[in-house]
Amino acid sequence: MIVPGSSSQLLAAALADETGRPLATATYDRFPDGETLAAVPAFDGDEATVVATTDSDSAWVELLQLQDAVREAGATHVTTVIPYMGYARQDESFADGQPVSARAMARAISTGTDRVVLVNPHETAVTDFYSVPVDIVDAASVLADPLSALTDPLFLAPDEGAIGIAETVRDAYGTGETDYFEKHRDRETGAVDVSPSDATVSGRDVVVVDDIVATGSTMSEAVGVLTDRSAERIVAACVHPMLAANAVTKLRNAGVDRIVGTDTIERGCSVVSVAPALAETLVADAVAGE
Ligand code: R5P
Repeated sequence: MIVPGSSSQLLAAALADETGRPLATATYDRFPDGETLAAVPAFDGDEATVVATTDSDSAWVELLQLQDAVREAGATHVTTVIPYMGYARQDESFADGQPVSARAMARAISTGTDRVVLVNPHETAVTDFYSVPVDIVDAASVLADPLSALTDPLFLAPDEGAIGIAETVRDAYGTGETDYFEKHRDRETGAVDVSPSDATVSGRDVVVVDDIVATGSTMSEAVGVLTDRSAERIVAACVHPMLAANAVTKLRNAGVDRIVGTDTIERGCSVVSVAPALAETLVADAVAGE
């Protein structure tokens, strides 16, 4: 049984199609005091896969409840797919008194599942915070699917940490250069500035590739430089299109022609699915466990 969190219903349905497993109609309610109550229907069988992106605090609570609910319903083996793991960027205590939020979240999840699957976590080291086995699915290559007929393309990472994802998308597209900008983020204000490489972009199509677009500050700073340098078309591509607050407007005003994302976070720009990549991992693990 595939059990969706409320934020991952389209992806869970796609995963049910890919794997041929039944899709549970979970319910998501709230008590008058605001507390969440997520529940699952009765089911036959002893395996459940909870698919829930944790893009908000309530999504985390819901995920913990769904893990518990499937056990109550009879599951003896639970897999938890977290398409986008929120809080993964707080993977260390950056100042006195701060928590390692990713560790706190991973510990809580680990108490209610047998196995975790993450899609392109911000840092792979977060897997160490879980006390159950963790698989990482790299779904970045799917971002190349909607790109067509690019002119002399450059696949640009807005910071050095994203160069691997940019290379993956370039390889999947089949041709093009890669490069990256240097980024500095002020931890107090969140303000971002980028130091451009000397890549020539005039007349070229540029695909700016990152793992997450959250506030859009990183991407729009990079895009602003490309616009000033007369890039032809600019595509913003990311695995996790968080697109918080006014991020979309910031990207548009910086000069982005198109935003492309996956369905790890379900948004209007989620034009490609990570379901096939997830299904491959789930089915391979099921075969290995037989
Ligand atoms: C950071 O290293 C990440 O790869 C992204 O660049 C970052 O999370 C994007 O955040 P924002 O959109 O808020 O600049």
